[in-house]
Amino acid sequence: MLSKFKEAAQFIQEKTNLSPKLGIILGTGLGTIADNIQTEAEINYADIPHFPISTVKGHKGQLLIGTLNGVEVMAMRGRFHYYEGYDMSRVAFPVRVMKFLGITSIIVSNASGGLNSDFAIGDLMVINDHINLFPTNPLIGPNNPELGPRFPDMSEAYKKTFINSAFDIAQKHGIKLHQGVYAGLTGPTFETPAEYKYIRIIGADAVGMSTVPEVIVARHMGINVFGISVITDLGEERSIFAVSHEHVIENAKKNEKNLVLLVKELVKTMH
Ligand code: HPA
Repeated sequence: MLSKFKEAAQFIQEKTNLSPKLGIILGTGLGTIADNIQTEAEINYADIPHFPISTVKGHKGQLLIGTLNGVEVMAMRGRFHYYEGYDMSRVAFPVRVMKFLGITSIIVSNASGGLNSDFAIGDLMVINDHINLFPTNPLIGPNNPELGPRFPDMSEAYKKTFINSAFDIAQKHGIKLHQGVYAGLTGPTFETPAEYKYIRIIGADAVGMSTVPEVIVARHMGINVFGISVITDLGEERSIFAVSHEHVIENAKKNEKNLVLLVKELVKTMH
């Protein structure tokens, strides 16, 4: 596996003169962040050796390398989901490759269902912790100590100083910002009312079908993480209504201006 990460990393490195330390994973409907990157290289996933290929509508499969607000970044436009049929380690493959390219911090974004009754559609939630509700873990299997420890610490999966910076920026720019726990599960079904209730009771503020695998792998390798969710629907009991992928994409766009502003300011503080 190590040689696959290295081959993919080498292929990407040959396409750019930049050497970003910051990676960004763009979630469903959040591609506008990518539009703000002055790209130096755009690489289709299909061209990168050993890379999985995204199968979901609304997810362009491209790796962008360039600058965002003057900071060198490497961004994934389109990510891989467990529900597409990849195993957890395939889902997180690009994060491994990022590490081999010198990435030390990562921003992960997603669209998620809100469970906290304070949340409204379009709100932004900084992820301060997560619950892994996937039936497995990307680190299952023999551990390669060159990548990270057998039993990685997850006590600060989402770096506190990044969270604090995000709230400073939000305050300065008048952006409404929540923080909370993200529960990650397989999908592809949205939750039943009983499932939303269960996930709320166990302590989550938002629920989605991504992020957890990438964050586990990032922490395994010592990459610092900032996570942010856009609330695209409300699973709260009193406001249950039918959810669709189209709604999720549409609602993710509602607060994109603030998300972009927040991320553009944040990247300047993360290195
Ligand atoms: N549940 C799971 N995943 C999601 C949701 C949801 O309500 N909204 C966006 N992604």
